[in-house]
Amino acid sequence: MCGIVGYIGYREAWPIVLKGLKRLEYRGYDSAGIALMNNSGQHIYKKAGKVAVLEEFAEAHDKSGTSGMGHTRWATHGVPSDRNSHPHTSNNEKLSIIHNGIIENYATLKEELTNRGHEFKSDTDTEVLIHLIEEIQEIEQIDLLEAVRLALHEVNGAYAIVIMDKEHPDRLIAARKGSPMVIGVGNGEYFIASDATPIIEYTKNVIYLKDGEIALMTREDLLIKQLDNVIQTPLIQELELKLEMLEKGGFDHFMLKEIYEQPRSIKDCMRGRIYPEEGKVQLGGIKEFAEKLKNIDRIIIVACGTSWHAGLVGEYLIEEYARIPVEVEYASEFRYRNPIITEKDVVIAISQSGETADTMAAIEMAKERGATIFGICNVAGASIPRLTHAGVYTHAGPEIGVASTKAFTAQVTVLTLMAFYMAQQKGTITTSKLIELLTELDHIPEKIQVALESNDLIKEVAEKIKDSTNCLFLGRGSGFPVALEGALKLKEISYIHAEGYPAAEMKHGPIALIDEEMPVVFIATQNSSYEKVISNIQEVKARKGKVIAIVTQGDTEVKKMADYCIEIPDANEAFLPLIATIPLQLLSYHIAVMRGCNVDQPRNLAKSVTVE
Ligand code: G6P
Repeated sequence: MCGIVGYIGYREAWPIVLKGLKRLEYRGYDSAGIALMNNSGQHIYKKAGKVAVLEEFAEAHDKSGTSGMGHTRWATHGVPSDRNSHPHTSNNEKLSIIHNGIIENYATLKEELTNRGHEFKSDTDTEVLIHLIEEIQEIEQIDLLEAVRLALHEVNGAYAIVIMDKEHPDRLIAARKGSPMVIGVGNGEYFIASDATPIIEYTKNVIYLKDGEIALMTREDLLIKQLDNVIQTPLIQELELKLEMLEKGGFDHFMLKEIYEQPRSIKDCMRGRIYPEEGKVQLGGIKEFAEKLKNIDRIIIVACGTSWHAGLVGEYLIEEYARIPVEVEYASEFRYRNPIITEKDVVIAISQSGETADTMAAIEMAKERGATIFGICNVAGASIPRLTHAGVYTHAGPEIGVASTKAFTAQVTVLTLMAFYMAQQKGTITTSKLIELLTELDHIPEKIQVALESNDLIKEVAEKIKDSTNCLFLGRGSGFPVALEGALKLKEISYIHAEGYPAAEMKHGPIALIDEEMPVVFIATQNSSYEKVISNIQEVKARKGKVIAIVTQGDTEVKKMADYCIEIPDANEAFLPLIATIPLQLLSYHIAVMRGCNVDQPRNLAKSVTVE
């Protein structure tokens, strides 16, 4: 949550920082601000609203300067307003700061600082930190880098910060703990940002700042040290990201582009990992644990949001094929329970961003208790892949739309591969069965392509139900997580209240809501629960509910009952979630567009939830 970007070099900082903030808007978009240094001093512009509001506001102002920093906010402490927007300044206004994270002991610090005469201009935790840094610098008479280092010893919580100093306009100071930060290394210039997207067009050379590190950047030099004052040798890595991946490529929204990318992203995810003719799965990232997988007692999957839904699909697949008991936990609940974890457990943490605070805390707890941790992440070099013992990247490419689409199907693909891999290791699957399954899996991208071709029909259905106030999504077996994901997509981006339920559970509550105003979306494909789902559809029709059914191509039974049917290609039940999710993504997308919602940046949400 919150995006930060900074620049020091020979180019004008404003356009770099502004463009960077637009790229980072997926991290938060309730207010934005930029600070610039030029010959006439420091200039800070900040406004509630999107980055575009800030851009318009600053139009007529002085925006020159070759160093600067900017912030796009997702409010935690203090409502979104001009005064709570970052950058914040110190008491004497010499220092300014942008911050992503939460300073948990800010209230105590603020009280102490207030008693010592500090006056605060905002309600944020961030402002407290910059006042503390200023006070330490003044009392100890030390340079700013040292003051930042000492101040960070006094704060609890998570942070990625950048600090500018009016008296030293040729410096940027940055530090991180728990929130991500990447430094871009140019010739006579440095960039710093929450991820590499603001940096990519200027340099491919990056350094991922590690937890507990502070960086001092001038135009010529970079110094990185740990909070305990030990100087570090930075590791420069080359980015694989390409600029076109960050653009809409002719689509109206990133979400639509990302929905349509799925045949490609799933192929990328499987590349080099499946060998259908041999009936073999190879997962290089976890291969050193191949032996261990033969003897594990249990798998615990931890995740949040859409990634948690992918985890539920994983549970079905791993239990079915590898015969290992699986529990799927919300990371936020798991971390605060006292769960029983042993060294024979494997924890799989799933996270698109690789930065979700609750998932990270769950990993740390399970690691302390001796479990082996695997990660399933999309963003290379993020924090979670670095915390885990081993892992498998999803390779879906950057996902910019806040509502997750291609990352979900890529996570499900990885979990499918993991289930087969574990089954292979444990001997719970025959080679001939694997040949059959992998041959079909190899062709799933084509089936997804076919599912995408129903777009026009889905748009018509969207038109019919777009004004509903509620919507129910029902499925059984692995259709149940698909229903949950369908409901989440709809509520996230269209603000229609939607619930996902196991179809049979409808009788225990949601059935009371059904009337002619209530659209009910069924996952009614021809698999093991087909007959049962048909009975559930009849129960809804008997109460005059409007039924939208996702059916197998050529279905005739459901068509007799449902108001609208959307066909998808037939597939083994194991692969159903990969295909059945597609029409639900498109349905939510069209409804949200028709309702005039901001599809890529839905209100109150952020893509990377770095606070608990
Ligand atoms: C936020 C995003 C969701 C995402 C969830 C978990 O809520 O809006 O799209 O599923 O966080 O994020 P992660 O990056 O850990 O998958």
